[in-house]
Formats: sequence, structure tokens, C-alpha cells
Amino acid sequence: MISRLAKISDVPGITIIHKELFPGEMANSHNQVKSEYHRVYVTVDSHDTILGYVIYQVIDGEAEIYFFGVKEEFQSQKIGQELFNYSIEELKKEKINKITLEVKESNLAARKIYEKFGFINVGIRPRYYHDEDGIIYVWEDKTI
Ligand SMILES: CC(C)(COP(=O)(O)OP(=O)(O)OC[C@H]1O[C@@H](n2cnc3c(N)ncnc32)[C@H](O)[C@@H]1OP(=O)(O)O)[C@@H](O)C(=O)NCCC(=O)NCCS
Repeated sequence: MISRLAKISDVPGITIIHKELFPGEMANSHNQVKSEYHRVYVTVDSHDTILGYVIYQVIDGEAEIYFFGVKEEFQSQKIGQELFNYSIEELKKEKINKITLEVKESNLAARKIYEKFGFINVGIRPRYYHDEDGIIYVWEDKTI
């Protein structure tokens, strides 16, 4: 299992997982893989099959997580953690020192991983997801 920057040829694999995890939410990963304002990272197995992906928007030295997911049957096997760690290290190499994200209040698995990586809960967007609140998390490295 390795993590790396996504290529255009990864888009179909990303799309399969994206549709499974976020039905009805457009990702446009084809454009994002090519865009200078986005970073798309994937974790793949030994056959180069995509197990997980994370999409960031990157502007003015700051990043925002758009989507982060691991294929359902491979969840809770540390793949998300490996990918998240890799992506943050890559962003740090680019001198990105602030990452924000928003997550459903009830998504305890994702919130746990964010908190494990030092993301701080800085606020709530009430009813952001219609049926529930969105929690805003921020990670900052002031040494960068
Ligand atoms: C959130 C997600 C990306 C995490 O990836 P993963 O590969 O399943 O997570 P990992 O196995 O790397 O686990 C990392 C940490 O997350 C937490 N975690 C993972 N699965 C969990 C679960 N089912 N319940 C509670 N915590 C969980 C744990 O703290 C774990 O660390 P630990 O094992 O040392 O305790 C994945 O579960 C997923 O795709 N979920 C659906 C999509 C989603 O909600 N994306 C995030 C919002 S945009």
C-alpha cells in the first residue's frame, strides 16, 4: 500500500469510491487532478487499485479538505490515517501551514482521525447539512 499524488488515470477509481461514499455530491476530480488550485492524493494497493482518496483546495498557502474517503470494505484498517498523514506531509513541503475542513457532527470516525492529527474544533455551522450541524476544524503549524 502506498500513497501518492493522483494522476488523470486514477479518476475512474476515485469516482467509484466517491459515488459509493457521497452519493449525489459532485466532486469533479478530473479537473481537480489537473488544477493548480487543488491537490488530490490517493492510497493504492499493490495492483495500483485505489483504496482511498483525499481532495484539497489550495489557495494562498492554505488548504481546505473537500472530500476524504476510503472504500467501504477497506475502512478501519488504517488506510485513512496513512493517506491523511501522507497528504499533510506533502502539503507541509509546499509551506502550507493551515488546513480547514468541515464534517458532520455525527461522523465520529472522521472526527477522531482529524483530532488525532491535531485538528482543533473551532466552531459549528448550525444545520449546515440540513439535518445536522457541521463542525469546523482547523490545523495550523505556525513553525512553517
Ligand atoms: C473517515 C475515513 C476516511 C477514515 O478512514 P479509515 O481508513 O476508515 O480510518 P483508519 O482505519 O485509518 O482509522 C484512523 C482513526 O480513525 C478512527 N476510526 C476509524 N474508524 C472508526 C470507526 N468506525 N469508529 C470510530 N472511530 C474510527 C480511529 O480513531 C482510528 O484510529 P485508531 O484505530 O488508532 O483508534 C473513512 O472511515 C471513510 O471513508 N468514511 C466515510 C466517508 C467520510 O465520512 N469521510 C470524511 C468526511 S468528508
